[in-house]
Amino acid sequence: MNAFKLASRLSSRAAVAQFAPRPAAIGVGISNATRCPALPALSQQQQAFISSTTPASKSPELYELGSVDHGFTDDRIDHVAEPERRAFTYLLLSGVRFAYASTARVLVVKFVSSMSASADVLALASAEFDVGGVAQGKTITVKWRGKPVFIRHRTPAEISAEAGVALSSLRDEETDDDRTLKPEWLVVLGICTHLGCVPISGAGDYNGWFCPCHGSHYDISGRIRKGPAPLNLEIPPYKFTGDTKILIG
Ligand code: FES
Repeated sequence: MNAFKLASRLSSRAAVAQFAPRPAAIGVGISNATRCPALPALSQQQQAFISSTTPASKSPELYELGSVDHGFTDDRIDHVAEPERRAFTYLLLSGVRFAYASTARVLVVKFVSSMSASADVLALASAEFDVGGVAQGKTITVKWRGKPVFIRHRTPAEISAEAGVALSSLRDEETDDDRTLKPEWLVVLGICTHLGCVPISGAGDYNGWFCPCHGSHYDISGRIRKGPAPLNLEIPPYKFTGDTKILIG
């Protein structure tokens, strides 16, 4: 048998020996009794070669497995100084954290509420007036956000007269219909659009308002008709909350 055939045959024997049952005595190697019966018998030379190349089976010692991890046992908290006080400790910690959370909540609520408008500011933002007692042809002056507001109860004749005014004759072109929610009620800011004086009601060339500061004349729709004022009297935001109740703002 040449060397190549011997090597390939021995290697196949060694492979079979890896998975074959081991003999009771460790390090003895593979005997003929444990070999696969289908294979031919090995010579003593072959058995000696296999024994020298096949590692002997041996259980590793504990120190051979590397360092032992003692972290689990070292870090275990199974020794409490005062186990009977554990519940008290938990209760104390929970109470402190609850106090922190409550304080933070109160601070946040106070901060947010401080940014909203106060009650007196909200009260001034809008104001409701009952104009049921105002006779036709009369004007009342009310106060809204610190400014005078004229509310005039107009007569049918005044309404028709203002509706008939040609837009081309106006400096600040606005129809009477655009300036009222109900034709019989005119609501305008009592501030002259020239330099901010308070005009006089029922005065001037147009029986509306007259500003004595520089002589501006407004008609019964609050439109500028004469004088230096450039614009009509301003109309504040308002709505009717009843037949005779007006909410301004
Ligand atoms: S402020 Fe009214 S006319 Fe000048």
